[in-house]
Amino acid sequence: DIRRLTAPDIRARKGGEPIVMLTSYHAHTARLVDQHADVILVGDSLGMVMHGMESTVPVTLDMMILQGLAVMRGSKRALVVIDLPFGAYEESREQAFRSAARILKETGCGAVKLEGGARMADTIRFLTERGVPVMAHVGLTPQSINALGSFKAQGRDRADWPVFLADAKAVADAGAFSVVVEAVAEPLGREITQAVAIPTIGIGASVACDGQVLVLEDMLGLTPWSPKFVKRYGELGPHIAKAVETYAQEVRSRAFPGPEHTYAEKKPAK
Ligand code: KIV
Ligand code: NA
Repeated sequence: DIRRLTAPDIRARKGGEPIVMLTSYHAHTARLVDQHADVILVGDSLGMVMHGMESTVPVTLDMMILQGLAVMRGSKRALVVIDLPFGAYEESREQAFRSAARILKETGCGAVKLEGGARMADTIRFLTERGVPVMAHVGLTPQSINALGSFKAQGRDRADWPVFLADAKAVADAGAFSVVVEAVAEPLGREITQAVAIPTIGIGASVACDGQVLVLEDMLGLTPWSPKFVKRYGELGPHIAKAVETYAQEVRSRAFPGPEHTYAEKKPAK
């Protein structure tokens, strides 16, 4: 049975086997991730990772839909969640619904994700009541970089915890089926997980979260630098550099293409 996992399937995993989530922006990586992950996130981090942008702020809805389509084509089992980019949902619940509906209709994915806690609760309720499963995102919310000033861990002071806990509770009460908790002090990530009835998916949060997510290119070692919370499970950058170097040498020395890479002339039929 290769039915795709759904938002309710993920919602039901609270407190159970940890949820495995990774980002993917392309058909080829989606195919590989789909073999092991429960959720594939088409994150707006694609602006920084694929396009070299300095933040996720410039990412557009059309970019998200284009890469979301590629990931849907490349996968068949995981739940695909697509980020609503900055500017596509904050203005009103109606604007958020219009953007989310475009994503669901044009890509066929199963859910959207948006950043923000208590301030987004009305929007999350509006979407979920109208058939749009929403994954929320609290803690560090990178789309707010211009207001935050830097990408730094949140909730390092216990005095700040009530705000983050209230955010997580607000999105859960509003109907979010799960919530990403990004870059918070470990005990806060643990506490949020205990405080809400929906699965928490940590990235730089806590091993106690109900699941974990990483940016694929970070964990593969394709990015030159990655944050503290990334475990680099591979170092693909040097492998690619080596392959490109060897190719360049072989083109210049005429070692490539060899006979096995070229086509023989067809002998004329008698
Ligand atoms: O855009 C993204 O990759 C994300 C994850 C870091 C959760 O939102
Ligand atoms: Na994101």
